[in-house]
Amino acid sequence: MCGIVGYLGDKNTKEILLSGLKELEYRGYDSAGIAVLQDGEFSIYKAVGKLVNLEEKTKEFITDKFAVGIGHTRWATHGKPTELNAHPHLGESSYVVHNGIIENYAELKQKLQEDGVKFLSQTDTEVIVHQFEKNLLACEDGFKAFSKTISELEGAYATLIVTASLPDTIFFAKHGSPMLVGVNDEDEKFFASSDSPLIGLAKEVNYFEDGDYGYVTKDELVIYNKNAEKTKPNFSQLSTDKLSAQKDGYRFFMEKEIYEQSDVIADTLIGRLSDEEIVFDEIDKNLFDGINEIKLCACGTSYHSALSASYMFERYSKIRCSVEIASEFRYRSPIMAKDTLFVVISQSGETADTLETLKMAKRANLKTLVICNVDNSSMVREADACILTRAGIEKGVASTKAFATQVTVFWMLSLYVAKLRDSLTTDELKYQIHLLRETPVATKVSDEIHEKIKRLSKRYLHGHGFFFIGRDIFFPLALEGALKLKEISYLHAEGYPSGEMKHGPIALADPELFTIALLPEHLLYEKSKNNVEELSARDSTICAISAKEFDKADDFIKINPCKDYMLEFFEMMIVVQLLSLEISIRLGNDVDMPRNLAKSVTVE
Ligand code: G6P
Repeated sequence: MCGIVGYLGDKNTKEILLSGLKELEYRGYDSAGIAVLQDGEFSIYKAVGKLVNLEEKTKEFITDKFAVGIGHTRWATHGKPTELNAHPHLGESSYVVHNGIIENYAELKQKLQEDGVKFLSQTDTEVIVHQFEKNLLACEDGFKAFSKTISELEGAYATLIVTASLPDTIFFAKHGSPMLVGVNDEDEKFFASSDSPLIGLAKEVNYFEDGDYGYVTKDELVIYNKNAEKTKPNFSQLSTDKLSAQKDGYRFFMEKEIYEQSDVIADTLIGRLSDEEIVFDEIDKNLFDGINEIKLCACGTSYHSALSASYMFERYSKIRCSVEIASEFRYRSPIMAKDTLFVVISQSGETADTLETLKMAKRANLKTLVICNVDNSSMVREADACILTRAGIEKGVASTKAFATQVTVFWMLSLYVAKLRDSLTTDELKYQIHLLRETPVATKVSDEIHEKIKRLSKRYLHGHGFFFIGRDIFFPLALEGALKLKEISYLHAEGYPSGEMKHGPIALADPELFTIALLPEHLLYEKSKNNVEELSARDSTICAISAKEFDKADDFIKINPCKDYMLEFFEMMIVVQLLSLEISIRLGNDVDMPRNLAKSVTVE
């Protein structure tokens, strides 16, 4: 979610770090910073807001000789976007940058504080540098101290450390967050959290594996793997195209974002799951005191995630829940009962209609909560409480990973409320948490399924319309599948409850009507199957998505067998996203910038 760069060499370190950060700015831009060690002295610059603010601050700073430097552009997770919370973080005489989340930071911090260490920031990152210095003091060997530090960290990270006593060294470690190192014939070393900053600078690059750690100097690149064995770098050539590097080789940002879902869901879960309950440090438990109803309000894809939430809140938390389209809600003189928690959902946090409903709720003195992907956005600032979805910046206009993380947050929130209201047994809660932990696996895209969808998509480029159908929580997913398809293919598509087709739309059934049927094995399978058979009997072309073979379908996309319908939900989500993507690509459309749409709609 953040961006990391590092440089060791005798060129213009400041420029190399800043232009690297510029390439990564799309990943997070609430603050940025660099630390450069030159002639035995550190120079540190940090600035809140976009990178231009850091560029402005470093105007007079000159780097014209050998130096080591690290830089970071931040997407806040722990602690607000302030200068103190911006990376690099300082110990006594070392600096660290870090992507990811250190899950055991609170324990480490407490111990360090007991030893008298003063913390300056609210971040989890700062423990890394203090822990490193504590170990350095104990063993006086930089690499030993670093290795020990890494073994003490839990969670996901990519991190770089520089320290004054070793002015020609950068330490690195990667576990769960991406990082690569680049080298060239001039003994320079470059680090970054994705390819693009290294293009044109490094001759070849090594992508670190999870568990890799080590150090670089002018002459060395030393890598140890997760079993503490010394390994050789596995160099490859870098692409020369910056845009495609930002897309990490995917054809479109939307495709990349579909593939990222497994990782970003893992980020969404980090630190929020314990064995028997959901932990949301960011919300006050008494937010739900006196609340008897939850009202959800949003637009577009976020509205669909809200609809799925309503099934979970009523089923797991046993609390009344209603869902509203923001542009409708704001003009229909709604009743605002005081015992209602008003929840808005928004990827951007800026959608004008949704923001206005939040203001209405505040004016009516309702408690408010926002589920959002952008910290410090208008909605985050306006609402009483906020849960961030941690999807990272979403570039494709057609939302994918934002939806996936919103549903994940709602699933967690429904269990959080279930615990407060005692509506699930401890065993049921444990089971749900166990399922949540499996979501990153359910959302991994398999080559096999993607290939199948690519091939199959050629049969769905015409026709007089698509119906995506599903029951229960698969109905909002059907709506979302249809929205994805129309957004980027410009084909007519509707989402419909499977059981409702017979009350009208079935009149449209003929071979040119395409039905995309969501058939989860573990939720109303027989009922949904009957609905699909009714359409098949009337000659609609059926594409069924299920883990269970279904012989009435013209096309069949088999998902992995899952133990619960919620995991089937995420598996099918991937399928409908990929199907829209491949149809749109075949039609020659610009997937990332579809006509007439905007990523963030800040007008009414
Ligand atoms: C626009 C976008 C949609 C998005 C909707 C709500 O219409 O094109 O993809 O779902 O706004 O956006 P939000 O940022 O509030 O989730």
